[in-house]
Amino acid sequence: MPNAASLDALPYRHVLPHTTTLSPAGSLSIGGCDLRELAETYGSPLYVFDEQDFRETAREFRREFESRWPEVSVLYAAKAYLSLPLADIVAEEGLGMDVVSGGELAIARAGGFPSSRLYFHGNNKSAEELEAAVTGDPVGRIVVDNFHELAELDRIAGEGDARQPILLRVSPNVDPHTHAKTTTGVLDSKFGFAIANGDAERAVAAAMAAPNIDLRGLHVHLGSPIFEIEPYEQASDVMCAFAAQMGDTHGFSFDEYSPGGGFALAYTREQHAPAIAEYAERVARSMERAIAEHRLEQPSLHIEPGRSLIGRAMVAVYTVGARKEIPGVRTYVSVDGGMADNIRPAMYGSGYEAVPVDRPLDEPTETVTVAGKYCESGDILVRDAELPRLDAGELVALPASGGYNLAMSSNYNMALRPPVVAVRDGQSRLLQRRETVEDLVARDVRQG
Ligand SMILES: Cc1ncc(COP(=O)(O)O)c(C=O)c1O
Repeated sequence: MPNAASLDALPYRHVLPHTTTLSPAGSLSIGGCDLRELAETYGSPLYVFDEQDFRETAREFRREFESRWPEVSVLYAAKAYLSLPLADIVAEEGLGMDVVSGGELAIARAGGFPSSRLYFHGNNKSAEELEAAVTGDPVGRIVVDNFHELAELDRIAGEGDARQPILLRVSPNVDPHTHAKTTTGVLDSKFGFAIANGDAERAVAAAMAAPNIDLRGLHVHLGSPIFEIEPYEQASDVMCAFAAQMGDTHGFSFDEYSPGGGFALAYTREQHAPAIAEYAERVARSMERAIAEHRLEQPSLHIEPGRSLIGRAMVAVYTVGARKEIPGVRTYVSVDGGMADNIRPAMYGSGYEAVPVDRPLDEPTETVTVAGKYCESGDILVRDAELPRLDAGELVALPASGGYNLAMSSNYNMALRPPVVAVRDGQSRLLQRRETVEDLVARDVRQG
């Protein structure tokens, strides 16, 4: 009978959720639930969420950073994936949440997520979004991105009776060596106040002069996913030097610092992300060095993991349909999902592993391209996947599908977004149902 030891021999074992095992029949099982049975119960395509994996990773982030720094907030970056039940789990684990839009804020609020643990980001927050964030039960922090927002926030916060705590998003001009579309902390970026052109200093001065704003600290987000740790260390140096200078010239007090998110996640067998402990160690040590060098008080630390928290916890399960062989060129194996539920390969050229659900230990016999079903040639999920021959009706799983798959999903070709099923200790529960045709037409308005 196949066992966990044989699963461990897979070259991509590390991209599978923590609780992955083989069922007695030899098929993939997550959280004690057989993926084939889940697909039969909930349909395909299907996203399976390993609740234990997510909770363990959340605890690991807290443990590794909290054991190295006196005051730490771990904020889940909700843009990676958000739903009401996920927000409940985030709250139960004692994490805060980084939200980037009125929509994410509304979902957090609808679920009763503690406002004080919400951080509101975004490079073009509207007046309505800022009002929703600061009125009633104000969010913990607004991460202010630009001068327009600073003025708007000061005006809106002035209508209430408390000064709104903020961080300034600063662009430190540190290159994290990620995909150009996910590099954010360099001078040529739409995000944040650049140090290099003096904007960051002007923003500190303006925020300190704003009567309804309480400037608590500085935020950077370098990009994502960052497989090297050095950029975080460089950011510590740059930001502490800047904070010290702002202290000298403007009396700024550096009480809070966020190095953002971007912690890496392995998607394929070749990729290996640094351990969370390694990020924590090097962020903490570099901050210790930098605050000592610049004679600063120790700020509290806020980190914002998204993909590194949710990514490995979700597996996408698809059913194989058509097969097209072009001799000497390529074989396409099409599945029942694609770019509508996972745009990342088309958008970033992202790689994934493709795992034959019913027989993951079978030796690969061919190289195929796993194609989506949508009307774009670019709708390819996995290029050159090494697989045993998969015929129509067989299931294929794409691990590491938790971050930015469903969050970026669409109704392209009037696709129905797949459901999310949480698995834990042999039980499954629906977190989000499959979309229906009624959902698709719900916004349509006909005349007469
Ligand atoms: C400000 C900020 N924080 C955190 C994140 C999360 O990044 P990741 O999911 O790579 O951890 C992002 C991603 O875009 C971001 O812009």
